[in-house]
Amino acid sequence: MMRPSLLIRQLRIRPACSPRLFSVNRYSTATSTAAAAQTPPTVPAGEKPYYITTPIFYVNAAPHVGHLYTMVLTDVLKRWQQLHGRPAKMCTGTDEHGMKIQQAAAAADMDPRTFCNTGANSFKSLANLSQCSWDTFIRTTDKEHHDAVQYFWQMLLQRDYIYAGKHEGWYSVGDETFYTEGGVEHTLDPATGRKIVLSKETGRVVEWTSETNYHFRLSAMKEKLLEFYKANPEFVVPAARYADVVAAVEAGLDDLSVSRPRDRLTWGIPVPNDDTQTIYVWLDALVNYITASGYPWTPGQERSGGWPADLHVVGKDIVKFHAIYWPAFLLALDIPPPKQVLTHAHWTMNRKKMSKSDGNVVNPFYAIQRYGVDSMRFYMARDGGIHDDGDYSNEHIVERYRHELQFGLGNLTNRVCGVNFDLDLARAEAFTDVWTLSTRDQLMKALPTTTAIDVAEQMAALDVPTAVKTIMSIIHETNKYIQHSAPWSLRKPEQKSEQNMVIFLSAECVRVAGIMLQPFMPDKAKAVLDQLNVAPEKRSFDFAAYGKDDSYGVGTKGKKGLIFPPLSE
Ligand code: MSP
Repeated sequence: MMRPSLLIRQLRIRPACSPRLFSVNRYSTATSTAAAAQTPPTVPAGEKPYYITTPIFYVNAAPHVGHLYTMVLTDVLKRWQQLHGRPAKMCTGTDEHGMKIQQAAAAADMDPRTFCNTGANSFKSLANLSQCSWDTFIRTTDKEHHDAVQYFWQMLLQRDYIYAGKHEGWYSVGDETFYTEGGVEHTLDPATGRKIVLSKETGRVVEWTSETNYHFRLSAMKEKLLEFYKANPEFVVPAARYADVVAAVEAGLDDLSVSRPRDRLTWGIPVPNDDTQTIYVWLDALVNYITASGYPWTPGQERSGGWPADLHVVGKDIVKFHAIYWPAFLLALDIPPPKQVLTHAHWTMNRKKMSKSDGNVVNPFYAIQRYGVDSMRFYMARDGGIHDDGDYSNEHIVERYRHELQFGLGNLTNRVCGVNFDLDLARAEAFTDVWTLSTRDQLMKALPTTTAIDVAEQMAALDVPTAVKTIMSIIHETNKYIQHSAPWSLRKPEQKSEQNMVIFLSAECVRVAGIMLQPFMPDKAKAVLDQLNVAPEKRSFDFAAYGKDDSYGVGTKGKKGLIFPPLSE
């Protein structure tokens, strides 16, 4: 039970923690190999890097392909910024507190800390294996995070946004959230015939809970939130989910229970100055985004760690927490909310959401081992759903690999490096304007530049799957063009110039596609650009247009690569 005297005392206390002096990279024991392999742009003093985050993953279950998707999307978007020369920072990590983890550790007969270490290592391994170039891997059991959460709590308390009261409702451990009577349905368990109560939103079991705990005045934030949404109409992407969020807030908000009695939940951050209560796991978890940017900030250092985040990438099941609760907490403290939240749909298996509890998950470690990192990144980014769910299929992975990568991009790269073609000479000729271009040639000449413009717009709109398809469409077009123009048959001396033209117009498409594919498939795109002998300093987005590179293609004659080897059966 709550001790009211403590509550009153708490209202008077000063925050116990003082602002920290450091900001980025405090959690990384080592940066990932992907990050180390490149030389990403560094942040000039006093400037804010582009700051992007994944959700932090619950450690109660092993990573699955759905988690890999969130990581890949985030990493692709981060690398896309770097391709434009912008310093960028990515945070990922693990969510380790709460009833769900406490119960899972007990079920595994392990102490929670050891249990969490295993889970955190597993998610970190996946992030590294999938070439996610994280800068911070945060764990909610980190000391800095513990202090940041308690500081954040005290700030809310000081501003009178937190009060103690009785709370009754339906609690779902699986969702770590309370539901009202309207949010649940009473039904019978098909397996046992026993009466059960389920969340209407997630279908997870709930239990009636009555306890005294602390509340956050969420109801008081309604107008501020609506004002914020109005001023930021692209806060939640896609637009349909933004509309849902606004409608939910317009319908009215109840105050939010933000602690649990410690005798029920021991595995979590204690409420400062009240050891009978544990801070609600979602409040704890959301604060990770600012902990990783150096919160509590030293005055004047607020932006150097990246805050406000440019983008939180989250699944559609956790929109409410990121688009309502999180900005409400922040606005209560006059801290700017994140600029945008990209909400994506789910991976399904046979049209059913992939989830541990349903036992239909795909192990991402095996998938990467089987198909390769870049092919999986390509498949995730290309076929993953933003609006609608994507159904996972091994046949599709193989199909995309063979058709678009092996026979598409790989084949085309080899074609422009044919033994009878002199790309170096062709490029030199291109700058002398000696060719007579047919309408089709002119279209090909325009293609790299217009495609890059389209892709840039799609990426700015966070439409990653469409952007991948647009990049690949240029490969498809070029393969058709080269097939139709048959440069290998232009053997006579007087046809040499025409042959050069076809080769150069094709090579330009491969070069520009290769540049734009770097965020999606770092190693394979590098192999393509290496084969064309594109200089490392000419691989940024500035060079993704026709005629922007006047030095590549030297020594590519007959330079065959096996960038996409046949998949073993
Ligand atoms: N711990 C919370 C997030 C706290 S963020 C402050 C959580 N963790 S989770 O491990 O359950 O989910 C992490 C992310 O994986 C979420 O964005 C979730 O939507 C995503 N996915 C989980 N299953 C998924 C699929 N089947 N498909 C795609 N993404 C999925 O929620």
